[in-house]
Amino acid sequence: MLIEIDSERIQSEIDQLAKISEASPPVVTRVLFSKADLQARAYVRARCSNLDLTLREDAVGNIFAHWQGQDPDLPAVATGSHIDAIPNAGKYDGVVGVLGALEAIRGLKRSGFKPRRSIELVIFTAEEPTRFGIGCLGSRMLTGALAPEQALQLTDSAGKRLSDWLGEVYPQSGDLQSVRLVPNFYSAFFELHIEQGPLLERQRIDLGVVEQIAAPATLRLEFIGEGGHAGAVLMPDRHDALLAGAEIALAVESAAKESQSPDTVGTTGVFRIEPGAVNSVPYRALLEIDLRDTRLSTRDFALQRIRENVLAVTQRRGVQAHLDVINQDPPAVCDAALVQAALQAAVRVGLSARCMVSRAYHDSLFMAQTCPTTMLFIPCRNGVSHRPDEYASPEAIGKGTLVLAQLLEQLAS
Ligand code: GLV
Ligand code: MN
Ligand code: MN
Repeated sequence: MLIEIDSERIQSEIDQLAKISEASPPVVTRVLFSKADLQARAYVRARCSNLDLTLREDAVGNIFAHWQGQDPDLPAVATGSHIDAIPNAGKYDGVVGVLGALEAIRGLKRSGFKPRRSIELVIFTAEEPTRFGIGCLGSRMLTGALAPEQALQLTDSAGKRLSDWLGEVYPQSGDLQSVRLVPNFYSAFFELHIEQGPLLERQRIDLGVVEQIAAPATLRLEFIGEGGHAGAVLMPDRHDALLAGAEIALAVESAAKESQSPDTVGTTGVFRIEPGAVNSVPYRALLEIDLRDTRLSTRDFALQRIRENVLAVTQRRGVQAHLDVINQDPPAVCDAALVQAALQAAVRVGLSARCMVSRAYHDSLFMAQTCPTTMLFIPCRNGVSHRPDEYASPEAIGKGTLVLAQLLEQLAS
């Protein structure tokens, strides 16, 4: 069956979606439950309805667009990604996997394909951790990695709880207990995504098929020291919270660099101090730390080193520390049969492909816990992501979408 992909159409939808942003172009910012996030959801829902897909939304806002197969009792083949975006992002992260999947479904419909298994597009709630400090909120709940009781405790930086947000945004939404998928709900899951790294572009390879997804741990660390007048408090008397935090930011770097694994990476991405006045000693520092690896043992060893450093710094500087481990997830291994199927599908349509590791996390990290999963990576310019200048060419997106469509056809036949 000849499947044709209209990459111009995907690009035009990507451009339209990018205009729905909390910031001015080219910056895309769409934080969970912001006006832009809600508008973007409406935009995607409308496109799914135009395609005659049946829409469902669960109690945490995951959206499911369903193309019923001839044998609807069989577990569906699923694909999808996210449309939320971190502050100061670009227009491709997540979006390619949603709008590309829509075009894959359109292409299959145009070709006359009639699926035996149903095909379902999933748009996950909050892959990005911006509002609640925890990534993959929707897919964590779908797969049971985050219990409803834990989710209800989540609070954003303004002190507003997830339950308050849900009551406001989804007043009709049901009980969070209903979000978790039953076993064997899906037969397979594919996520199309930009690589967010430079390898495919450098090696001039069309498609990366993901075999392993690195595991993140996220820490929130607060130091409480003692403030005071920057002129009057003598140096031996200081308990400066910023300096305690600075020591930990450096310890994060060392723990990652000195790890036995080249895949260990550590970032202190948030560092806020109070009161934030030039002539006042900082009395409070809040750090958020992201630590990742494809191997759990080396990631957790680095985490342990950071804990030891926190303890040492509190003693040496006479400050208090509160360390919360927000998440500490295991890495995922993708399904070997799906990886092979994806490599073969690429070759069949004349594309070059290689296996690779995902160093970023994705909803697939959690979907892999519930059904056979893999990801399809396409090259992006200079490997740049999480920046407004993120870019993937329409050709690259079209190629990835074609492989996705082939796989949906194969797995749903
Ligand atoms: C997802 O956006 C990540 O931070 O890897
Ligand atoms: Mn991202
Ligand atoms: Mn993403």
